[in-house]
Amino acid sequence: MPKYTAHRPQVVDPAGVDGSPYARPMPITTDDSRAATAIETGGKPLVDFEGTSNPYIDYQSIDLLLSLQHPRSDGYDEMCFFVMGQVKELLFRGLHHEIVNAKVQLDLDEVGNALEILTRAVAFIDYITESWNVLSTITAEGFSQFRDTLGTASGQLSFMYRHVEFALGNKNRELANAHRNVPHVWPAMKDALESPSFYDSAISLLARRGLPVDASALDRDWSETYAPNDSVEAAWREVYTDPGPHNELYRLGEQLTALDQQFSLYRWRHFVSVERIIGYKAGTGGSSGVAWLDAVTRHRFFPELWSIRT
Ligand code: HEM
Repeated sequence: MPKYTAHRPQVVDPAGVDGSPYARPMPITTDDSRAATAIETGGKPLVDFEGTSNPYIDYQSIDLLLSLQHPRSDGYDEMCFFVMGQVKELLFRGLHHEIVNAKVQLDLDEVGNALEILTRAVAFIDYITESWNVLSTITAEGFSQFRDTLGTASGQLSFMYRHVEFALGNKNRELANAHRNVPHVWPAMKDALESPSFYDSAISLLARRGLPVDASALDRDWSETYAPNDSVEAAWREVYTDPGPHNELYRLGEQLTALDQQFSLYRWRHFVSVERIIGYKAGTGGSSGVAWLDAVTRHRFFPELWSIRT
């Protein structure tokens, strides 16, 4: 595709950016102080600030964020790829926050709270799936103009994505091990691998609500990949004998199925887009590419919720 040249105007002078990853100090305001300010400004927005920054920049370190886009080639499409990669990392971060907190609520037996949080989690996955609409505008030719500059970098090495997979229950020690050498990432990754997942909490909840679940499903080596369990399937089947909004376990089952369905759609969009962009060429991360993705695309987080439908 693009034979034309990319113009990439600098919007931030990196020399002036505070590169600290920590929250910047800033004052808080209140309803009263905001009302007083609006009287002082005559209702117009504030435009004069002291120092070398402003509160919008400092609240989310926006100048730092917007100085982190560094395409490494002249390929026109690389800026789009770069930005969308970063956007996806942020969206996975947001999704992870919701899954972790839905688990906390399940552990507290607050199923209603978990359901509310899961509604947002599903919306996040939907949004991440839609992001492929932008990425899919990158053609095979456009991608080949910058693919070499990726070296062996691959989405497979996204530790944020791996956290999402592990939080939901798709554990994989081999893929976690890719982060062993990164001291500021590995402890949290190892902890996520070896701790019960959100689905493990859902299974414990079924047992606490009196449904018979094998001890082997309630206490196991949490780092092992989850294998479908007959007693968990029977428990969900029992829940589904009483469908309807009055049954919160049924609503939980349906919400988990919606989440699993949306995640499958995300994987599918990635898979199809990859096939369109690189065909059957090997991946940058060392895998066979589409063939490897074909297997991971068929994964389901909550297998019993699918098998009971048959
Ligand atoms: C647009 C061009 C893209 C292509 C051609 C592509 C290709 C691939 C390939 C071939 C793999 C298999 C592993 C390997 O690299 O050997 C892979 C895995 C993966 N990619 Fe992409 N990818 C693209 C964009 C993205 C983006 C923008 C993201 C999001 C940050 C992403 C996230 C992932 C993840 C998370 C995996 C691992 C899947 C898993 O473990 O289940 N990819 N990709």
